[in-house]
Amino acid sequence: MTRAISLHDVSKTYTRGVRVVDRLSLDIAPGEFLVLLGPSGCGKSTLLRMIAGLEEITEGQLRLDGEYANDLLPSERNMAMVFQNFALYPNMTTRGNIGFPLRIEAPGEDPGPRVDATARMLGIEDLLDRFPAQLSGGERQRVAMGRAIARHPSVFLMDEPLSNLDAKLRNHLRAEIAALTRQLGVTTVYVTHDQAEAMSLGDRVAVLRGGILQQIGTPRSVYALPRNVFVAAFIGTPRINLLRGLVRAPLDGAMTISLGKQYLRLPEPLSLDHQLLRVQQGREVVVGLRSEAIRLAKPSAARPGEVAISGLVEHVEFQGHEVLVHFNTGSSPALVPDLEAPRPAVHAARRRRRESGTVLARLRERAEALRAGPVGVLDGPPDTYPEPARQEARLPGDLVVRTTPDIDLRRGMQVPLLVDIAHLFVFDQHGERICPAPARLPDLGE
Ligand SMILES: Nc1ncnc2c1ncn2[C@@H]1O[C@H](COP(=O)(O)OP(=O)(O)OP(=O)(O)O)[C@@H](O)[C@H]1O
Ligand SMILES: [Mg+2]
Repeated sequence: MTRAISLHDVSKTYTRGVRVVDRLSLDIAPGEFLVLLGPSGCGKSTLLRMIAGLEEITEGQLRLDGEYANDLLPSERNMAMVFQNFALYPNMTTRGNIGFPLRIEAPGEDPGPRVDATARMLGIEDLLDRFPAQLSGGERQRVAMGRAIARHPSVFLMDEPLSNLDAKLRNHLRAEIAALTRQLGVTTVYVTHDQAEAMSLGDRVAVLRGGILQQIGTPRSVYALPRNVFVAAFIGTPRINLLRGLVRAPLDGAMTISLGKQYLRLPEPLSLDHQLLRVQQGREVVVGLRSEAIRLAKPSAARPGEVAISGLVEHVEFQGHEVLVHFNTGSSPALVPDLEAPRPAVHAARRRRRESGTVLARLRERAEALRAGPVGVLDGPPDTYPEPARQEARLPGDLVVRTTPDIDLRRGMQVPLLVDIAHLFVFDQHGERICPAPARLPDLGE
Protein backbone atom coordinates (compact mmCIF):
# COMPACT_ATOMS: atom_id res chain seq x y z
CA MET A 1 0.00 0.00 0.00
CA THR A 2 1.22 3.44 -0.85
CA ARG A 3 -0.39 6.78 -0.34
CA ALA A 4 -0.91 10.31 -1.57
CA ILE A 5 0.29 13.18 0.60
CA SER A 6 -1.12 16.70 0.23
CA LEU A 7 -0.06 19.81 2.03
CA HIS A 8 -2.31 22.86 1.85
CA ASP A 9 -0.89 26.19 3.02
CA VAL A 10 1.07 24.47 5.75
CA SER A 11 3.04 26.70 8.12
CA LYS A 12 5.18 26.12 11.17
CA THR A 13 5.92 28.75 13.77
CA TYR A 14 8.22 28.06 16.70
CA THR A 15 8.97 31.59 17.82
CA ARG A 16 6.13 34.09 17.43
CA GLY A 17 6.11 35.72 14.05
CA VAL A 18 8.79 33.59 12.47
CA ARG A 19 7.48 31.03 10.03
CA VAL A 20 10.14 28.41 9.46
CA VAL A 21 7.76 26.79 6.97
CA ASP A 22 5.65 29.38 5.24
CA ARG A 23 2.27 28.57 3.63
CA LEU A 24 3.57 25.63 1.73
CA SER A 25 1.37 23.64 -0.61
CA LEU A 26 2.27 20.55 -2.58
CA ASP A 27 0.79 17.27 -3.70
CA ILE A 28 2.79 14.06 -3.67
CA ALA A 29 1.37 11.25 -5.78
CA PRO A 30 1.17 7.64 -4.53
CA GLY A 31 4.50 5.93 -5.20
CA GLU A 32 6.25 9.17 -6.06
CA PHE A 33 9.82 9.92 -4.95
CA LEU A 34 9.84 13.57 -3.94
CA VAL A 35 13.02 15.32 -2.82
CA LEU A 36 12.93 18.37 -0.53
CA LEU A 37 16.01 20.38 -1.41
CA GLY A 38 17.34 23.57 0.12
CA PRO A 39 20.15 25.12 2.14
CA SER A 40 20.64 24.49 5.84
CA GLY A 41 17.87 25.91 8.00
CA CYS A 42 15.31 26.32 5.21
CA GLY A 43 12.78 24.09 6.97
CA LYS A 44 13.23 20.71 5.27
CA SER A 45 13.38 18.61 8.43
CA THR A 46 10.57 20.57 10.00
CA LEU A 47 8.35 19.85 7.02
CA LEU A 48 9.26 16.17 7.05
CA ARG A 49 8.58 15.93 10.77
CA MET A 50 5.19 17.55 10.29
CA ILE A 51 4.33 14.90 7.70
CA ALA A 52 5.49 12.23 10.15
CA GLY A 53 3.39 13.70 12.96
CA LEU A 54 6.45 14.40 15.13
CA GLU A 55 5.88 18.14 14.89
CA GLU A 56 2.59 19.96 15.18
CA ILE A 57 1.30 21.84 12.14
CA THR A 58 0.74 25.46 13.18
CA GLU A 59 -1.51 26.38 10.25
CA GLY A 60 -2.78 24.62 7.18
CA GLN A 61 -3.75 21.06 6.36
CA LEU A 62 -2.08 17.75 5.83
CA ARG A 63 -4.12 15.18 3.91
CA LEU A 64 -3.27 11.53 3.48
CA ASP A 65 -5.15 9.93 0.59
CA GLY A 66 -7.46 12.93 0.73
CA GLU A 67 -8.28 12.50 4.44
CA TYR A 68 -7.55 15.26 6.95
CA ALA A 69 -4.55 13.99 8.92
CA ASN A 70 -3.17 16.87 11.04
CA ASP A 71 -4.21 15.20 14.26
CA LEU A 72 -3.24 11.59 13.54
CA LEU A 73 -0.65 10.14 15.90
CA PRO A 74 2.65 9.18 14.25
CA SER A 75 1.79 5.53 14.86
CA GLU A 76 -1.49 5.93 12.97
CA ARG A 77 0.22 7.16 9.81
CA ASN A 78 2.10 3.98 8.84
CA MET A 79 5.20 5.93 7.87
CA ALA A 80 8.81 4.94 8.43
CA MET A 81 11.47 7.52 8.96
CA VAL A 82 15.21 7.22 8.33
CA PHE A 83 17.34 9.93 9.91
CA GLN A 84 20.77 11.33 9.29
CA ASN A 85 21.92 10.11 12.69
CA PHE A 86 20.48 6.66 12.28
CA ALA A 87 20.22 5.63 15.90
CA LEU A 88 20.46 1.85 16.17
CA TYR A 89 20.05 0.19 19.53
CA PRO A 90 23.66 -0.54 20.54
CA ASN A 91 22.76 -3.55 22.64
CA MET A 92 20.83 -5.28 19.84
CA THR A 93 22.18 -7.15 16.87
CA THR A 94 21.18 -6.31 13.32
CA ARG A 95 18.45 -8.93 13.63
CA GLY A 96 17.19 -7.32 16.83
CA ASN A 97 17.30 -3.82 15.38
CA ILE A 98 15.38 -4.69 12.22
CA GLY A 99 12.89 -6.82 14.13
CA PHE A 100 12.29 -4.32 16.92
CA PRO A 101 9.53 -2.24 15.30
CA LEU A 102 7.88 -5.46 14.10
CA ARG A 103 7.77 -6.85 17.63
CA ILE A 104 6.20 -3.59 18.84
CA GLU A 105 3.60 -3.63 16.08
CA ALA A 106 2.64 -7.28 16.35
CA PRO A 107 3.85 -8.62 19.71
CA GLY A 108 2.65 -12.19 19.16
CA GLU A 109 4.22 -12.71 15.75
CA ASP A 110 7.67 -14.01 14.88
CA PRO A 111 9.46 -11.19 13.05
CA GLY A 112 12.07 -13.67 11.73
CA PRO A 113 10.82 -14.23 8.17
CA ARG A 114 10.36 -10.52 7.48
CA VAL A 115 13.73 -9.70 8.99
CA ASP A 116 15.38 -12.32 6.78
CA ALA A 117 13.59 -11.12 3.65
CA THR A 118 14.58 -7.53 4.36
CA ALA A 119 18.19 -8.47 5.02
CA ARG A 120 18.29 -10.35 1.72
CA MET A 121 16.91 -7.35 -0.11
CA LEU A 122 19.62 -5.13 1.36
CA GLY A 123 22.44 -7.66 1.05
CA ILE A 124 23.13 -7.70 4.79
CA GLU A 125 22.36 -11.34 5.61
CA ASP A 126 25.94 -11.81 6.84
CA LEU A 127 25.55 -8.99 9.33
CA LEU A 128 22.46 -10.23 11.13
CA ASP A 129 24.28 -11.33 14.27
CA ARG A 130 26.56 -8.35 14.61
CA PHE A 131 26.09 -5.42 16.96
CA PRO A 132 26.13 -1.82 15.64
CA ALA A 133 29.63 -1.25 17.03
CA GLN A 134 30.84 -4.06 14.77
CA LEU A 135 29.46 -2.44 11.62
CA SER A 136 30.83 0.24 9.31
CA GLY A 137 28.91 3.46 8.75
CA GLY A 138 27.46 2.24 5.46
CA GLU A 139 26.43 -1.07 6.96
CA ARG A 140 24.74 0.67 9.87
CA GLN A 141 22.88 2.86 7.42
CA ARG A 142 21.67 -0.22 5.60
CA VAL A 143 20.45 -1.71 8.86
CA ALA A 144 18.59 1.53 9.56
CA MET A 145 17.03 1.29 6.10
CA GLY A 146 16.16 -2.31 6.84
CA ARG A 147 14.40 -1.31 10.02
CA ALA A 148 12.29 1.14 8.00
CA ILE A 149 11.55 -1.28 5.16
CA ALA A 150 10.69 -4.34 7.26
CA ARG A 151 7.57 -2.65 8.56
CA HIS A 152 6.14 -2.38 5.04
CA PRO A 153 5.24 1.25 5.58
CA SER A 154 3.08 3.14 3.12
CA VAL A 155 5.43 6.14 3.19
CA PHE A 156 9.19 6.51 3.62
CA LEU A 157 10.46 9.73 5.11
CA MET A 158 14.21 10.11 4.83
CA ASP A 159 16.13 12.99 6.34
CA GLU A 160 19.60 13.26 4.84
CA PRO A 161 20.13 9.55 5.42
CA LEU A 162 23.45 9.50 3.60
CA SER A 163 25.14 12.66 4.75
CA ASN A 164 27.35 10.97 7.34
CA LEU A 165 28.92 8.69 4.76
CA ASP A 166 31.89 9.20 2.49
CA ALA A 167 31.32 10.23 -1.11
CA LYS A 168 31.83 6.79 -2.66
CA LEU A 169 29.50 5.01 -0.29
CA ARG A 170 26.98 7.80 -0.59
CA ASN A 171 26.83 7.35 -4.37
CA HIS A 172 26.53 3.62 -3.98
CA LEU A 173 23.74 3.75 -1.40
CA ARG A 174 22.00 6.49 -3.35
CA ALA A 175 21.64 4.13 -6.28
CA GLU A 176 20.43 1.41 -3.91
CA ILE A 177 17.81 3.65 -2.34
CA ALA A 178 16.55 4.66 -5.76
CA ALA A 179 16.27 1.05 -6.90
CA LEU A 180 14.73 -0.13 -3.65
CA THR A 181 12.04 2.52 -3.35
CA ARG A 182 11.05 2.01 -7.00
CA GLN A 183 10.88 -1.73 -6.43
CA LEU A 184 8.72 -1.26 -3.34
CA GLY A 185 6.67 1.48 -5.01
CA VAL A 186 6.32 3.31 -1.71
CA THR A 187 5.74 7.08 -1.61
CA THR A 188 9.03 8.59 -0.49
CA VAL A 189 9.89 12.06 0.75
CA TYR A 190 13.64 12.53 0.87
CA VAL A 191 15.38 15.54 2.41
CA THR A 192 18.79 16.72 1.26
CA HIS A 193 20.79 19.90 0.78
CA ASP A 194 22.87 18.21 -1.93
CA GLN A 195 21.51 19.18 -5.32
CA ALA A 196 23.31 16.36 -7.14
CA GLU A 197 21.64 13.85 -4.83
CA ALA A 198 18.28 15.52 -5.34
CA MET A 199 18.62 15.52 -9.11
CA SER A 200 19.70 11.90 -9.30
CA LEU A 201 17.01 10.53 -6.96
CA GLY A 202 13.84 12.52 -7.35
CA ASP A 203 10.88 11.99 -9.63
CA ARG A 204 10.34 15.60 -8.67
CA VAL A 205 12.37 18.07 -6.64
CA ALA A 206 10.86 20.75 -4.39
CA VAL A 207 13.28 23.61 -3.77
CA LEU A 208 12.88 25.47 -0.48
CA ARG A 209 14.39 28.71 0.70
CA GLY A 210 13.64 30.34 4.04
CA GLY A 211 10.61 28.10 4.55
CA ILE A 212 9.10 29.11 1.22
CA LEU A 213 8.64 26.73 -1.68
CA GLN A 214 10.51 28.21 -4.63
CA GLN A 215 9.75 25.67 -7.29
CA ILE A 216 8.66 22.10 -7.73
CA GLY A 217 9.21 20.04 -10.84
CA THR A 218 11.11 17.21 -12.45
CA PRO A 219 14.91 17.46 -12.15
CA ARG A 220 14.93 18.28 -15.85
CA SER A 221 12.45 21.14 -15.54
CA VAL A 222 14.01 22.82 -12.51
CA TYR A 223 17.37 22.69 -14.26
CA ALA A 224 16.10 23.85 -17.65
CA LEU A 225 13.64 26.46 -16.41
CA PRO A 226 14.60 27.68 -12.93
CA ARG A 227 11.95 30.09 -11.75
CA ASN A 228 14.38 32.49 -10.09
CA VAL A 229 18.08 33.17 -9.48
CA PHE A 230 18.05 31.17 -6.28
CA VAL A 231 16.89 27.96 -7.96
CA ALA A 232 19.18 28.62 -10.92
CA ALA A 233 22.17 28.99 -8.62
CA PHE A 234 21.26 26.12 -6.34
CA ILE A 235 20.88 23.53 -9.06
CA GLY A 236 23.63 22.41 -11.43
CA THR A 237 27.40 21.97 -11.25
CA PRO A 238 29.42 23.97 -11.98
CA ARG A 239 27.12 26.61 -10.67
CA ILE A 240 25.40 28.77 -13.31
CA ASN A 241 27.24 31.99 -14.16
CA LEU A 242 25.16 34.91 -12.92
CA LEU A 243 26.29 38.29 -14.20
CA ARG A 244 24.92 41.78 -13.85
CA GLY A 245 23.68 43.03 -17.19
CA LEU A 246 21.99 46.05 -18.68
CA VAL A 247 19.36 45.76 -21.40
CA ARG A 248 19.69 48.13 -24.32
CA ALA A 249 16.91 48.08 -26.88
CA PRO A 250 17.25 51.12 -29.13
CA LEU A 251 14.39 51.57 -31.57
CA ASP A 252 16.76 51.82 -34.51
CA GLY A 253 19.48 49.36 -33.62
CA ALA A 254 20.33 45.87 -32.42
CA MET A 255 19.18 44.79 -29.01
CA THR A 256 22.02 44.04 -26.61
CA ILE A 257 22.66 43.12 -23.01
CA SER A 258 25.85 44.71 -21.75
CA LEU A 259 28.02 42.84 -19.34
CA GLY A 260 30.47 45.46 -18.11
CA LYS A 261 32.45 46.59 -21.13
CA GLN A 262 31.34 43.71 -23.33
CA TYR A 263 27.89 42.96 -24.61
CA LEU A 264 25.76 40.15 -25.94
CA ARG A 265 24.08 41.11 -29.17
CA LEU A 266 20.78 39.29 -29.47
CA PRO A 267 20.54 37.66 -32.90
CA GLU A 268 17.99 38.97 -35.43
CA PRO A 269 15.25 38.25 -36.03
CA LEU A 270 14.57 38.44 -32.31
CA SER A 271 12.95 35.38 -30.77
CA LEU A 272 9.66 35.93 -28.97
CA ASP A 273 11.43 35.73 -25.60
CA HIS A 274 13.93 38.36 -26.64
CA GLN A 275 11.21 40.62 -27.98
CA LEU A 276 9.58 40.46 -24.57
CA LEU A 277 12.84 41.71 -23.05
CA ARG A 278 12.35 45.05 -24.77
CA VAL A 279 10.33 46.33 -21.83
CA GLN A 280 13.49 46.01 -19.72
CA GLN A 281 15.20 48.68 -21.83
CA GLY A 282 17.64 50.64 -19.65
CA ARG A 283 17.14 48.29 -16.68
CA GLU A 284 19.56 46.13 -14.79
CA VAL A 285 18.99 42.42 -15.05
CA VAL A 286 20.83 39.28 -14.04
CA VAL A 287 22.14 37.21 -16.93
CA GLY A 288 22.42 33.48 -16.33
CA LEU A 289 24.72 31.37 -18.44
CA ARG A 290 25.23 27.72 -17.68
CA SER A 291 28.62 26.36 -18.51
CA GLU A 292 27.25 24.47 -21.52
CA ALA A 293 26.10 27.75 -23.08
CA ILE A 294 29.69 28.90 -23.54
CA ARG A 295 32.53 27.42 -25.56
CA LEU A 296 36.09 28.36 -26.29
CA ALA A 297 36.23 29.28 -29.98
CA LYS A 298 37.09 32.14 -32.30
CA PRO A 299 34.35 34.50 -33.52
CA SER A 300 34.90 33.12 -37.04
CA ALA A 301 33.74 29.70 -35.81
CA ALA A 302 30.43 31.04 -34.55
CA ARG A 303 27.33 29.03 -35.42
CA PRO A 304 23.97 30.71 -35.92
CA GLY A 305 22.77 32.00 -32.56
CA GLU A 306 26.23 32.25 -31.04
CA VAL A 307 27.79 35.59 -30.17
CA ALA A 308 31.43 36.38 -29.39
CA ILE A 309 32.92 37.77 -26.19
CA SER A 310 36.34 37.29 -24.67
CA GLY A 311 37.75 36.45 -21.29
CA LEU A 312 41.02 36.64 -19.43
CA VAL A 313 42.00 33.34 -17.83
CA GLU A 314 42.14 33.80 -14.05
CA HIS A 315 42.33 30.24 -12.87
CA VAL A 316 42.29 26.75 -14.32
CA GLU A 317 40.72 23.99 -12.24
CA PHE A 318 41.77 20.54 -13.38
CA GLN A 319 39.09 17.91 -12.70
CA GLY A 320 40.45 14.94 -14.63
CA HIS A 321 37.81 14.33 -17.26
CA GLU A 322 37.26 18.06 -17.72
CA VAL A 323 38.70 21.43 -16.85
CA LEU A 324 36.87 24.38 -15.35
CA VAL A 325 38.28 27.66 -16.58
CA HIS A 326 37.53 30.78 -14.56
CA PHE A 327 37.51 33.87 -16.77
CA ASN A 328 37.45 37.52 -16.00
CA THR A 329 35.24 39.15 -18.63
CA GLY A 330 35.16 42.55 -16.98
CA SER A 331 31.56 42.07 -15.88
CA SER A 332 30.30 41.88 -12.32
CA PRO A 333 29.01 38.75 -10.71
CA ALA A 334 25.49 38.87 -9.34
CA LEU A 335 25.45 37.11 -6.01
CA VAL A 336 22.59 35.17 -4.51
CA PRO A 337 22.35 36.09 -0.82
CA ASP A 338 21.19 32.83 0.75
CA LEU A 339 23.77 30.89 -1.16
CA GLU A 340 26.77 33.11 -0.61
CA ALA A 341 26.28 33.58 3.08
CA PRO A 342 23.72 31.36 4.77
CA ARG A 343 22.64 32.89 8.06
CA PRO A 344 20.64 31.35 10.86
CA ALA A 345 17.11 30.99 9.55
CA VAL A 346 15.75 32.43 12.78
CA HIS A 347 16.40 35.71 11.03
CA ALA A 348 14.68 34.56 7.88
CA ALA A 349 11.61 36.74 8.32
CA ARG A 350 13.66 39.85 8.94
CA ARG A 351 15.92 38.94 6.07
CA ARG A 352 12.99 38.42 3.72
CA ARG A 353 11.55 41.79 4.68
CA ARG A 354 14.85 43.46 3.95
CA GLU A 355 15.13 41.76 0.61
CA SER A 356 11.55 42.30 -0.32
CA GLY A 357 12.34 45.54 -2.20
CA THR A 358 14.81 44.28 -4.67
CA VAL A 359 17.04 41.29 -4.49
CA LEU A 360 19.18 43.05 -7.00
CA ALA A 361 19.80 45.97 -4.66
CA ARG A 362 21.33 43.53 -2.24
CA LEU A 363 23.16 41.69 -4.96
CA ARG A 364 24.62 44.98 -6.01
CA GLU A 365 25.71 45.83 -2.47
CA ARG A 366 27.45 42.51 -2.18
CA ALA A 367 29.18 42.85 -5.51
CA GLU A 368 30.42 46.34 -4.57
CA ALA A 369 31.74 45.03 -1.29
CA LEU A 370 33.46 42.24 -3.12
CA ARG A 371 35.10 44.48 -5.61
CA ALA A 372 36.38 46.74 -2.84
CA GLY A 373 37.85 43.93 -0.78
CA PRO A 374 40.25 41.14 -1.57
CA VAL A 375 39.02 38.67 -4.15
CA GLY A 376 36.94 35.82 -2.71
CA VAL A 377 33.27 35.45 -2.16
CA LEU A 378 32.82 33.88 1.22
CA ASP A 379 32.34 36.52 3.87
CA GLY A 380 31.70 34.33 6.88
CA PRO A 381 33.68 31.72 8.70
CA PRO A 382 33.88 28.81 6.20
CA ASP A 383 33.15 26.28 8.92
CA THR A 384 29.55 27.41 9.16
CA TYR A 385 28.84 26.57 5.52
CA PRO A 386 27.18 23.39 4.41
CA GLU A 387 29.55 21.41 2.27
CA PRO A 388 27.97 22.10 -1.13
CA ALA A 389 27.98 25.85 -0.58
CA ARG A 390 31.67 25.63 0.15
CA GLN A 391 32.34 23.59 -2.95
CA GLU A 392 30.31 26.03 -5.00
CA ALA A 393 32.19 29.08 -3.76
CA ARG A 394 33.38 31.07 -6.68
CA LEU A 395 37.04 31.49 -7.32
CA PRO A 396 38.45 34.66 -8.85
CA GLY A 397 36.93 35.40 -12.22
CA ASP A 398 33.33 35.89 -13.11
CA LEU A 399 32.60 33.28 -15.75
CA VAL A 400 33.24 29.57 -15.37
CA VAL A 401 33.46 27.50 -18.54
CA ARG A 402 33.82 23.75 -18.75
CA THR A 403 36.19 22.41 -21.35
CA THR A 404 38.12 19.31 -22.29
CA PRO A 405 41.43 18.73 -20.50
CA ASP A 406 43.49 18.76 -23.71
CA ILE A 407 43.30 22.52 -24.13
CA ASP A 408 46.36 24.18 -22.68
CA LEU A 409 45.29 27.36 -20.92
CA ARG A 410 47.27 29.44 -18.53
CA ARG A 411 46.49 32.35 -16.27
CA GLY A 412 46.71 35.67 -18.09
CA MET A 413 45.71 34.41 -21.54
CA GLN A 414 42.99 36.36 -23.35
CA VAL A 415 40.64 33.81 -24.89
CA PRO A 416 37.77 34.19 -27.39
CA LEU A 417 34.45 32.74 -26.21
CA LEU A 418 31.18 32.00 -27.96
CA VAL A 419 27.91 32.28 -26.11
CA ASP A 420 24.90 30.32 -27.32
CA ILE A 421 22.10 32.82 -26.98
CA ALA A 422 19.46 30.10 -27.11
CA HIS A 423 20.71 29.06 -23.65
CA LEU A 424 20.56 32.54 -22.18
CA PHE A 425 18.60 33.10 -18.96
CA VAL A 426 17.58 36.58 -17.89
CA PHE A 427 16.22 37.40 -14.43
CA ASP A 428 14.59 40.69 -13.45
CA GLN A 429 15.32 43.07 -10.57
CA HIS A 430 13.53 40.77 -8.17
CA GLY A 431 15.47 37.74 -9.27
CA GLU A 432 12.50 36.22 -11.16
CA ARG A 433 13.17 34.60 -14.52
CA ILE A 434 11.92 36.64 -17.47
CA CYS A 435 13.76 34.86 -20.29
CA PRO A 436 12.75 32.24 -21.31
CA ALA A 437 9.38 33.79 -20.52
CA PRO A 438 7.71 32.05 -17.53
CA ALA A 439 4.75 30.58 -19.36
CA ARG A 440 6.74 28.66 -21.94
CA LEU A 441 7.29 24.93 -22.33
CA PRO A 442 4.39 23.59 -20.29
CA ASP A 443 5.50 20.08 -21.18
CA LEU A 444 8.46 20.49 -18.83
CA GLY A 445 6.13 20.58 -15.87
CA GLU A 446 6.26 24.31 -15.14
N1 LIG B 1 12.33 23.24 18.15
C1 LIG B 1 12.66 24.38 17.53
N2 LIG B 1 12.50 25.59 18.11
C2 LIG B 1 12.78 26.74 17.47
N3 LIG B 1 13.29 26.80 16.23
C3 LIG B 1 13.49 25.62 15.60
C4 LIG B 1 13.19 24.36 16.20
N4 LIG B 1 13.50 23.38 15.32
C5 LIG B 1 13.97 24.00 14.22
N5 LIG B 1 13.97 25.35 14.38
C6 LIG B 1 14.37 26.35 13.40
O1 LIG B 1 13.60 26.15 12.24
C7 LIG B 1 14.37 26.39 11.08
C8 LIG B 1 14.27 25.21 10.14
O2 LIG B 1 14.89 24.11 10.73
P1 LIG B 1 15.02 22.72 10.00
O3 LIG B 1 15.66 21.77 10.95
O4 LIG B 1 13.71 22.35 9.44
O5 LIG B 1 16.02 23.09 8.82
P2 LIG B 1 16.67 22.13 7.72
O6 LIG B 1 16.27 22.70 6.40
O7 LIG B 1 16.34 20.73 8.00
O8 LIG B 1 18.21 22.41 7.92
P3 LIG B 1 19.47 21.38 7.86
O9 LIG B 1 19.78 21.18 6.40
O10 LIG B 1 20.54 22.15 8.55
O11 LIG B 1 19.08 20.13 8.58
C9 LIG B 1 15.77 26.66 11.57
O12 LIG B 1 15.97 28.04 11.57
C10 LIG B 1 15.79 26.13 12.97
O13 LIG B 1 16.68 26.86 13.77
MG1 LIG C 1 17.46 19.08 8.62
